[in-house]
Amino acid sequence: MRKFIVAGNWKMNTTVPEGVELAKAVVEKSKKLPANVELVVAPPFTHLYPVADVLKGSKVALSAQNCADHEKGAYTGEVAVNMLTSLGCQYTILGHSERRQYYGETDEKLVVKTQLALAAGLKVILCVGENLEEREAGKHFDVVTAQTKNVLYNFTAEDMKNVVIAYEPVWAIGTGKTATAAQAEEIHACIRNVIAEKFGAQVADDMTILYGGSCKPSNAKELFAEKDIDGGLIGGAALKADDFLAIALSF
Ligand code: PGA
Repeated sequence: MRKFIVAGNWKMNTTVPEGVELAKAVVEKSKKLPANVELVVAPPFTHLYPVADVLKGSKVALSAQNCADHEKGAYTGEVAVNMLTSLGCQYTILGHSERRQYYGETDEKLVVKTQLALAAGLKVILCVGENLEEREAGKHFDVVTAQTKNVLYNFTAEDMKNVVIAYEPVWAIGTGKTATAAQAEEIHACIRNVIAEKFGAQVADDMTILYGGSCKPSNAKELFAEKDIDGGLIGGAALKADDFLAIALSF
């Protein structure tokens, strides 16, 4: 059974007290949510411990925004997967375009991180997506196919049960410029085919594929109505509990 997910990527926003307040508001409003929609919040590392406490007993799951590519040791400034699971984190986002663009995150590194995360019992939200130049050159299908294969083809069908894919066209992130529902759907369908090719139709059918990039209450309904769009990875609009919940109520 495919799961619908709306995940909030807070990026490098809010102080710890502000983040705790935001989490409390999300938990409060999440009570209205239908059982088939899962809410996830991904605060900065510094917020995870107190936010985990706020989320206890709620339907809202906790995610990190990244994890280290080593298990432990002398890697100053990094956060290991077992640190995340030890505080109750259930997910980690990996391969966000901002990490690929500004922090040199490569597909090779993402294979290692995905391996570590899955082995630790974390679910992975793997981000893929083309930039504007690639879209204008008509390479978007190729880019997204390659990113998906380069990472996920190193894993098993069983592993795919703990993987969510987020298609985030880089030109739509934080720009106010959303992909149209048709543009997003054709890429989502393509990703599902890439998964089916390696892991079979059932695994592909069960895979949750999220859209991200200027998703907001006013466009979520149209996007989520597409048959291969199973929710959203939300940036800016996830910083307001009302907007975040309005998006989650758009199925
Ligand atoms: P945005 O960000 O909703 O602010 O465009 C989405 C994301 O980067 O995950």
